[in-house]
Amino acid sequence: MDKIRIRGGRVLRGAIPIGGAKNAALPLMVASLLTDQTLTLVNIPHLADITTLANLLGTLGVEIALDGHAPNGGHAGRALALTARKLAGTTAEYDLVRKMRASILVLGPILAREGRARVSLPGGCAIGARPVDLHLKGLEQLGASIELTGGYVEAKAPGGLTGARIVFPFVSVGATENLMMAATLAKGRTTLVNAAREPEVGDLARCLVAMGAGISGIDTDTLTIEGGKPLHGARHSILPDRIEMGTYAMAAAATGGDVELVGGRLELIQSAADALRGAGVTFEQGEKGVRVSRSNAALTGIDVMTEPYPGFPTDLQAQMMALLTTAQGASMMTETIFENRFMHVPELRRMGANINLHGGSAMVRGVPQLTGAPVMATDLRASVSLVIAGLVAKGDTTVARVYHLDRGYERLEEKLAACGAEIERLKDAA
Ligand code: EPZ
Repeated sequence: MDKIRIRGGRVLRGAIPIGGAKNAALPLMVASLLTDQTLTLVNIPHLADITTLANLLGTLGVEIALDGHAPNGGHAGRALALTARKLAGTTAEYDLVRKMRASILVLGPILAREGRARVSLPGGCAIGARPVDLHLKGLEQLGASIELTGGYVEAKAPGGLTGARIVFPFVSVGATENLMMAATLAKGRTTLVNAAREPEVGDLARCLVAMGAGISGIDTDTLTIEGGKPLHGARHSILPDRIEMGTYAMAAAATGGDVELVGGRLELIQSAADALRGAGVTFEQGEKGVRVSRSNAALTGIDVMTEPYPGFPTDLQAQMMALLTTAQGASMMTETIFENRFMHVPELRRMGANINLHGGSAMVRGVPQLTGAPVMATDLRASVSLVIAGLVAKGDTTVARVYHLDRGYERLEEKLAACGAEIERLKDAA
């Protein structure tokens, strides 16, 4: 398996292009199941998770074509055309679903279109149990009968789905997306109360509207969907990846650098930017993107709690922690979304960080310097936090299990190297 080697101590300066959001692209690709016409998604990121979902959609009979070109050697601007003329099946197999939990998003759309769906339960993952009960309860409220057999969800609605008022007990991005998609083909009105307001949910809603769906309340916590009209094809441009943006902002800040996040939109990372400003980082929205710098000020410790959008994103918690390991003073980081999202802590400690865990909180006491070490992590964001730590550590850091990074960061080492980082991918000889 490939590794990434970083020699720490370089200050990042330059420009980093921000790609289309992975967590918007995945549900948007699934939305192609709702129509027999072509859905074209522009600005599709080049990531392993996109390929995994494309493989799953392929088994369901979706024709997928990549047109567009790759300007400046990158993939921004690439367009993925998905056409689900006729579904070849209604089953999403375990072998494909277990590779990526977002696969559960096909459940609502297949069921809404075909009146039945059989989708493998994803199972637990490194960051928590991650059940899908809200997805299933919501579909039942839309009139589906649901059975769990042999590790699969068997959902049936032979007469089609019917709109309903669904109140989520807590915010779930995936359940909001699954049910919003299903509701576009359900008869009548569906109201989703306490819906997720993540920008990726709004992006999906806007694409569905472009496909002919009636959706109001977009970007609020109450979505109203007037369902039942057939959807048609559309062309939609995926919004920039706010987590990629936040990650590189933290990498730049950690090294005391000055980087332009090209194509970035500051309003998408407002809470993270506020937290970073509190720690001594400067942000500026320019015409081309967001400039992030920490040229003079020392980093100071701050307290951070993850929350659903517009709060501080759980997907930036690990990276923020890496940054705060060398801040002056103490920081308290509290994770409220996932119960087990601190896998990076033992690895950061191995690099000299002073972190104590108390349940869902981590107390980070800043140290003057991290030292490089061989490290590895079991999830995407934890892995990239180790890259950030490696950028500021003294000496060499080798991050193993690079396939986690490839799930969510396009050309990570190239983008960082272009800003002066000493970073390289070590190809597995085997
Ligand atoms: C999405 O996951 C993202 N993935 C995650 O990004 C992100 O961390 C998460 O939202 C929170 O922002 C995609 O968009 C593809 P949730 P999702 O449903 O939809 C619990 C990354 O690194 N829950 O909002 O699966 C759940 O266990 C990834 O890019 C239930 O209990 O997240 C969690 O504790 C990782 N029952 C909380 O809700 C349910 O039926 C929020 O999960 C559904 C969720």
